[in-house]
Amino acid sequence: MHIKVRVRKSSHWQNPKVQGIRVTVSDNGAGIAAANLCRIFEPFFTTKGENGTGLGLWVASGIVDRSGGSILTRSNVDPGKHGTCFSIFLPAES
Ligand SMILES: Nc1ncnc2c1ncn2[C@@H]1O[C@H](COP(=O)(O)OP(=O)(O)O)[C@@H](O)[C@H]1O
Ligand SMILES: [Mg+2]
Repeated sequence: MHIKVRVRKSSHWQNPKVQGIRVTVSDNGAGIAAANLCRIFEPFFTTKGENGTGLGLWVASGIVDRSGGSILTRSNVDPGKHGTCFSIFLPAES
């Protein structure tokens, strides 16, 4: 699996006056099925059974929310184009 992390200057997509950075983390892993995608930010939601805590994305989204930022998630499970992309905007001043 390949993971790409990209950081660049950006502005809030809902309010272009708000300047900050965008961190994009994308991978070519299995992807997240639509039925799970709407639950990944819930505390204790995991598809990894005993090996998961389901806390990673819940904690991360809490930090981003408290900073006044936001997270967009795109994911695809189709053969040949599977993968996931998290795009995190963090404002320069919160
Ligand atoms: N990059 C990813 N690719 C595929 N599935 C993911 C990815 N990131 C998160 N998930 C899904 O979201 C669930 C919740 O993630 P997380 O909150 O980090 O908890 P955990 O990793 O302990 O399961 C994971 O169990 C997995 O199903
Ligand atoms: Mg995790």
